Amino acid sequence: MNRTKDVLVIGDVMLDQYLSGSTDRLSPEAPVPVVKIDSQFSVLGGAANVANNLAALGAKVSLLGVVGRDDNARIVNELLESKGIANQLLDVDIYTTVKTRVISRNQQMVRVDREQLFDDDDAFVDHLSGVLSFFKGDAIIVSDYAKGVCSPAAMKSILTWASINNVKVLIDPKGTDWSKYEGAFLIKPNVKELEELFNTKIENTNDEIAQFAKEIKQRYNIDHVLVTRSEEGMTHVHEEVLHIKSRKVDIYDLSGAGDTVIAVLVYLIQQGEDISIAINKANQAGSYVITKPNTYAISNSELNSLN
Ligand SMILES: Nc1ncnc2c1ncn2[C@@H]1O[C@H](COP(=O)(O)OP(=O)(O)OP(=O)(O)O)[C@@H](O)[C@H]1O
Ligand SMILES: [Mg+2]
Repeated sequence: MNRTKDVLVIGDVMLDQYLSGSTDRLSPEAPVPVVKIDSQFSVLGGAANVANNLAALGAKVSLLGVVGRDDNARIVNELLESKGIANQLLDVDIYTTVKTRVISRNQQMVRVDREQLFDDDDAFVDHLSGVLSFFKGDAIIVSDYAKGVCSPAAMKSILTWASINNVKVLIDPKGTDWSKYEGAFLIKPNVKELEELFNTKIENTNDEIAQFAKEIKQRYNIDHVLVTRSEEGMTHVHEEVLHIKSRKVDIYDLSGAGDTVIAVLVYLIQQGEDISIAINKANQAGSYVITKPNTYAISNSELNSLN
């Protein structure tokens, strides 16, 4: 069981930053607490978190996206290097997306985001074509956080190239224009993303989720639709509809469960595992990482110990 193949993650790269410290007074400037920072750290976020999850499992992974020409880009680059993730990022004239959490007494006081929509399609598609022409793996993950990297033009290049080269494309979608994902191998929305797409309230029940998932499968010609349903587990629509329950767990930090799910799924498919087994394991892995603080990357041995 050690056949690691290359996987390419394409999408919106972010940096998750945590500043933590003590609070013992209110600010004289406004009715807000003053947090005195005594520790800080940053981890890979967004598409980079998917790549990080794959690297932790032992996959050979490359990351393609954009960063700015700023200090946060330097931190992203250092983190990628330390995790052994091949860096295919294009640096452009935007701020690197960063989400900064200020934490005191185990509680998040505020989150400060800096982000800028990226819209230079020509430059990105050009870079993308170059990277694809050297890519020798058999799976691409698209991690769309609607910050501009996964534009219709970029998706068209990816899906056209993948179909010619017999490469599977698995998508974590966002937004309301899913025609750009047409023809993908798998798409993995959560319930909120379904609601956004259909512009309606959706009950998290087997019947309702199955109905919308089937609609997506047909409308966008996608082989596998996998809806992640938080505490209700997942629904997989391929030739049949399958509901996979999740176990009750003590939640510590919900963020990143979806990234773990898609990373584990691709990793196991590349190991030659049957897709239904891979989906079951990915479901367990999703429930496992939310029992850990911050965005957590599950290791190979932790994954093997899940049952
Ligand atoms: N409360 C929970 N109890 C048990 N398992 C959970 C819970 N929440 C999430 N999971 C597991 O994680 C998977 C993904 O969760 P969810 O549907 O919330 O994804 P998501 O919203 O895309 O996550 P993310 O915060 O990373 O974007 C679920 O399918 C399930 O396996
Ligand atoms: Mg998600």
